[in-house]
Amino acid sequence: MTSNTTRQDAAVADKAILAGHAYADERHLAARQSIYRWQHPRYDLPGIVTEELAAVTGAVADIGCGNGKFLTHLRARRPDLNIVGLDLSAGILTHLPPPVLVADAQTLPFADHSIDAVLAMHMLYHVTDVPSTITEIARVLRPGGLLIASTNSDTDKHELDRLWSTAAGHILGLPEGPARVSLSSRFSLEKAPAYLAEAFTDIHTRHLPGTITLTDPAPITAHLASYEAWAHLSGVPFHPTIRHATDLAAAVIETEGAFTITCHGGILTCRTRT
Ligand SMILES: C[S@@+](CC[C@H](N)C(=O)[O-])C[C@H]1O[C@@H](n2cnc3c(N)ncnc32)[C@H](O)[C@@H]1O
Repeated sequence: MTSNTTRQDAAVADKAILAGHAYADERHLAARQSIYRWQHPRYDLPGIVTEELAAVTGAVADIGCGNGKFLTHLRARRPDLNIVGLDLSAGILTHLPPPVLVADAQTLPFADHSIDAVLAMHMLYHVTDVPSTITEIARVLRPGGLLIASTNSDTDKHELDRLWSTAAGHILGLPEGPARVSLSSRFSLEKAPAYLAEAFTDIHTRHLPGTITLTDPAPITAHLASYEAWAHLSGVPFHPTIRHATDLAAAVIETEGAFTITCHGGILTCRTRT
């Protein structure tokens, strides 16, 4: 588990970094999404979300929809729903069919009680003010409306965090280098229920644990490199650290046959009070 400095936390929610670099296009997000190809068990997250929406009719907003992983799946399976995607970054929406909006989740462009369900998948840890964004989501949902949110545990992929600090330590000549920035810790699986309870009821967490087993270090290199937007906060030369981490991971694969990464993501569902 890594915990961010105040400066790192601010940068994880910095809109200029998010829209202008981290999610200016889908490159970095796709690198993080693709490592799950080697996870066991595999989870069909868009399929789980579609199941959760089985009883929903009307309007659905996918806020922070990114490259449309959920939006695209849902539109294909539920053409009856009126689904709008929304993201801070215009660049990441480029290839998504309308309706999609460039907007901030903290000031949603929807009338009070006008939406039947909101998806906030792996995005609430990026907003500047988590409690007020949750209040804002509750404002646009109808009474009894559904929020589906996803995030990671504080322990998710801790082997990659350790690999990073070991490599950074070697580069800096220290026993251990600085921790890499944590994206999800501002709204982790452990913290999320207390935040949601301020405006929602019937909060359920579905834990999705798994193990990624790699016999090639390339997905690790891509995953570490996907944090490039925050490289200036790493306290260590970014690319040399990635190269060294790749060598360390390759050495583990050679001696142990594989590099394993423990994953712990989850999906939360909750409803506005009626
Ligand atoms: C980790 S990606 C998740 C994308 C998608 N929901 C998924 O799970 O595949 C986070 C997304 O949230 C967007 N985002 C971050 N802060 C936002 C905000 N305040 N309002 C709207 N979108 C935001 C980012 O631009 C990025 O596309």
